[in-house]
Amino acid sequence: MKISVIGLGFVGTVTGACLCELGHDVVGVDLDPGKVDLFSRGRAPVLEPHLDALLAKVWVSGRLRGVSDLAAAVAETDLTFVCVGTFRHADGTQDLSAVEKVVQGIGKAIAAKKKFHSVVLRSTVLPGTTRGRIVALLERETGGSVGETFGLANNPEFTREGSAIADFRNPSRIVIGEIDSRTGDRLASIYSGIDALLVRTSAEVAETVKYADNSWHALKVVFANEMDAISRAADVDSREVMNIFCADTVLNISPAYLKPGFAFGGPCLPKDVDVLTQWCRSNGVDIPVLAHVAESNERVIRRACSTVMDAGLSRIAFLGLAYKAGVGDLRGSPFAVLARQLLQAGRSVRAFDPDVSRGRRLATRHDYTDDAVEGLDSLLTDDVDELMAWAEVVVVTSYADQYATVLSKLDSRRVVLDLAGSRSIG
Ligand SMILES: NC(=O)c1ccc[n+]([C@@H]2O[C@H](COP(=O)([O-])OP(=O)(O)OC[C@H]3O[C@@H](n4cnc5c(N)ncnc54)[C@H](O)[C@@H]3O)[C@@H](O)[C@H]2O)c1
Repeated sequence: MKISVIGLGFVGTVTGACLCELGHDVVGVDLDPGKVDLFSRGRAPVLEPHLDALLAKVWVSGRLRGVSDLAAAVAETDLTFVCVGTFRHADGTQDLSAVEKVVQGIGKAIAAKKKFHSVVLRSTVLPGTTRGRIVALLERETGGSVGETFGLANNPEFTREGSAIADFRNPSRIVIGEIDSRTGDRLASIYSGIDALLVRTSAEVAETVKYADNSWHALKVVFANEMDAISRAADVDSREVMNIFCADTVLNISPAYLKPGFAFGGPCLPKDVDVLTQWCRSNGVDIPVLAHVAESNERVIRRACSTVMDAGLSRIAFLGLAYKAGVGDLRGSPFAVLARQLLQAGRSVRAFDPDVSRGRRLATRHDYTDDAVEGLDSLLTDDVDELMAWAEVVVVTSYADQYATVLSKLDSRRVVLDLAGSRSIG
């Protein structure tokens, strides 16, 4: 495919060189004539291991060029990658001026070209930007419409400086956030030489995935450093702690606990996080992220409470009340905390949880109690059919068999709050 790449910085140069290696014709464009000159001579305009060698190799093919004229580059190609920088204003908001200036130029060039052209945002932009500001700008400049005059997609860049070429050749996945399928098809075909999971999704999901990745990486670094602060205070070697931590690929370094749902709970997590953060406070250990974990968890419960309250209905039935199915008591249950909040807000709350019902019939001795959920087992009923007939809102806490069967029989007039999965109401 004939491809133009706008912005010969780190992302643009690596993208251009690697696309050329895949067999495509690449024209690179930059405001900086020095970068254009280097690129067009097969020399790297940025420092990145193996980039000089790769550019020199693909340059010999005659399929790599650099030009300063954006309009000419658009005119002679089918698809343009936008790889210019996105910055921060002083107040922390995103500065899209470089992207918008380039997109404006591309739009004018498409208008003059009078042929369908695909535009692909590789620069990192906030969710909604591609379908919002970028579509509006291109429609204004081309005088046409997306999907007809031009195509558009968001294709985030996930490579790391220092290993960018290896990352491009062997990505964990390629994400195509397409506004129109023609551009999605073109991108899929561009990457067909790479053996990797290819995900075609909406532009908004692609934009959000990029921020999920970077936020996660930042959070991991901060977590490791907070564990270092804790380890130092405990006089243990944090590297040994984290090496052992990382050896758990079932619960720690894994997709476990990374699917959105409801707040955490149970007999251990809330208690242990509380005890650890209190110990840190007493010992002067500064761990701002861990110290706010409980607060973030409480917000999840409060948001669910507001969602139910906003539905404006008063009879609320919980399918499951313990923190997970199979658990026989309510201690540590965030669903029980939610039920308590709804009761306090004047709602009628009842619940079906056969495991908790069985648990309360057994004589048990508990080593700890949970005041937050004390007395809530009186909300329980064994007659789920009667409960469903009574309920206006059904709160789903688990997809365990005993609840899935009930849900499959539920009529569509009931409002369902799904806290086991998608957290939707409808
Ligand atoms: N650097 C990374 O590791 C990385 C990784 C993933 C995503 N990103 C994102 O990719 C985007 C680009 O990042 P980068 O590090 O390559 O930026 P960069 O600053 O290194 O390069 C941007 C290039 O665009 C050029 N440019 C600016 N305005 C132009 C215009 N009107 N016409 C032509 N060229 C123009 C600049 O001269 C510069 O060479 C950013 O949104 C960034 O957040 C960066």
